[in-house]
Order: sequence, then C-alpha cells, then structure tokens
Amino acid sequence: MLHVPVLLEESLDFLLHNLSGSYLDLTFGRGSHSQEILKRISLNGTLDAVDRDKDAVLYGKENINDSRFSIHHSNYSEIDSLFLNKQFDGIILDLGICSTHLDEPSRGFSFQSNGPLDMRMNTSSGFSASEWLNSAPEKEIADILYKYGEEKASRKIANAIVESREIKFIETTIELSNIIQGAIKRTGKNHPATKSFQAIRIHVNNELYHLKIVLSKLEQFLKLGGTVVIISFHSLEDRIVKNFFKPEIKTFPKDIPINSSFKQTYRCIKKKVRPSIDEIKTNPRSRSAVMRVFSRL
Ligand SMILES: C[S@@+](CC[C@H](N)C(=O)[O-])C[C@H]1O[C@@H](n2cnc3c(N)ncnc32)[C@H](O)[C@@H]1O
Repeated sequence: MLHVPVLLEESLDFLLHNLSGSYLDLTFGRGSHSQEILKRISLNGTLDAVDRDKDAVLYGKENINDSRFSIHHSNYSEIDSLFLNKQFDGIILDLGICSTHLDEPSRGFSFQSNGPLDMRMNTSSGFSASEWLNSAPEKEIADILYKYGEEKASRKIANAIVESREIKFIETTIELSNIIQGAIKRTGKNHPATKSFQAIRIHVNNELYHLKIVLSKLEQFLKLGGTVVIISFHSLEDRIVKNFFKPEIKTFPKDIPINSSFKQTYRCIKKKVRPSIDEIKTNPRSRSAVMRVFSRL
C-alpha cells in the first residue's frame, strides 16, 4: 500500500510562500509531500529531500525525474554536513515512520505481520530491536516502555521479556507481540502491543534525540521569513516542537525588562492544525497528527 500523505493541502499552503523558492523536505518517505511541492513550484524553484531510510531514497531516485529535485541519504540531524551554506525558503518535517514501514514485514515495525525484529529506519547503522531486547537490563526496558510508550504495564512487560529471552532469544515481531499479550490484559480497542512497539521503535531510532538536534540547527538553513512546517504524530514529539519554538522571552521572569539582547528567532504562524474529520475518515493514521508552523524572524 502506498503512503497516504497527512495534512498535505494545509502544510503546503503554509510552506510554499514563494513559488520560485528553494525548499527542503527532511522526511521524504514515499515523496507525497515532495511530489506535490514539485507540482506547485515554478521552473526556477528547487527541492532537496532527505531520508535516513535507503529504501525511501531509492524510491525517490527511481520515481522522481526532475532537474529541480535532489535527494540525500542522511539523518536530518546531520543537515549541516549536507548543505553547508545553503538557505531555504521553507523546510518541512513530517515525523516518524511511513505506512510503508509498517506494511513491509521484513522491516520488523509491525506486530500484525511476522518478520525479523529490526525496527531500524537506517538498517546500516545502530542496533536492532532484537539486539536491544535480548541484552538490555530489565529496568532499562521498563523505563523505555514507560517513557516512550506511556505504557503503564511497562514493568510487567519488561519482566515477561526477560523471562522469555532466558529460554529463547526473541527474534521476531510475533514472538514479541505474543510475549506482551501474555503479560497484560487487553484494554480498550488498541492491540496490547501498540504502545510497546512505539516505544521500542522510538528508542532504537533515537528519534527524539535527532529531532532536538535538527530543531537546534534549522535556523541557519532558513532564509529570513522562511517557513518551517512540522507534523508530529504523538505528544512526545509535539511537546519537543512546542517547547523549542516557545518565544525565548517567555523563559525570563516577567519583571525583567525586554531589551534587544533577548533575541527571538521564530514567529509562530499556526499553533495547532489537526486533520479534518474527512481526512481522518479516509486516512485513520492521520488522527493523531498535529501540525505547527513557524517563520524565521
Ligand atoms: C511520515 S514519513 C514521511 C512521509 C512523507 N511526507 C510522504 O509524504 O511520503 C517519515 C519519513 O521520515 C524518515 N525519517 C524519520 N526520522 C528521520 C531522521 N532522523 N532523518 C531522516 N529521515 C527520517 C522516515 O524514514 C520516513 O521515511
């Protein structure tokens, strides 16, 4: 199944304020945002795209043949080694994984189909979910499940993982899913493994760390007045985005006078855009999306 873009119209309405400008899609995925940007910008416009997943980059190379477009295999947190002195009119980040990750059992992201327990977006670096789960201390596993999955039964699940790996290494998505289902009761309509799989994926890819790093580097790659559009899919990401762009001045006590040494870098253009009911109906994955838009002052 192809990746269905989230908040496509809304994000591009804010992003593309100069049709002859240069744009940067830091999360290419299957390129739905990128392809639409290329449709809308003029012949003088350019688009650079980045993805840490080499399948995404290969997809871009094979499917987009346009002299205005370039794609790079890299982590977005390494943006400074890709673009040195370049500045863009707009940058978009559509965070997390693609539905194509979930649809491909061999990538190990889904508890619904059996595959090797990998979960890395970049399979050529870092450690797989299986390597981590079979070696990490029980407390570390519990802490990660709680911190990144807000899983209340984190201790029970971590204990079941450790007991199970003493008998046999946990190697597949279904083995892990069965361990979790055996450890906790099903509550609500979500699968019992939903939160744990999210947490493990965030940990294995160190997602929140890379997000913080790229946010701290964006300013130097945005022209004055340039726009940054960020779509998050869970509250941990959205909180980082919201806090990062809070006007610096607010961090000072009210009684300190405002003076020019308090530099404010961004203006908030749009606080919290959510998908419409119609979008959620046609693409249920969009239901947790929140978009925020800022421009560089
Ligand atoms: C939600 S998808 C983007 C979908 C895309 N907007 C589209 O329309 O097809 C997120 C993509 O970002 C990539 N990604 C996630 N974290 C990344 C990072 N730190 N650096 C580079 N790419 C990353 C993932 O591999 C995935 O392909």
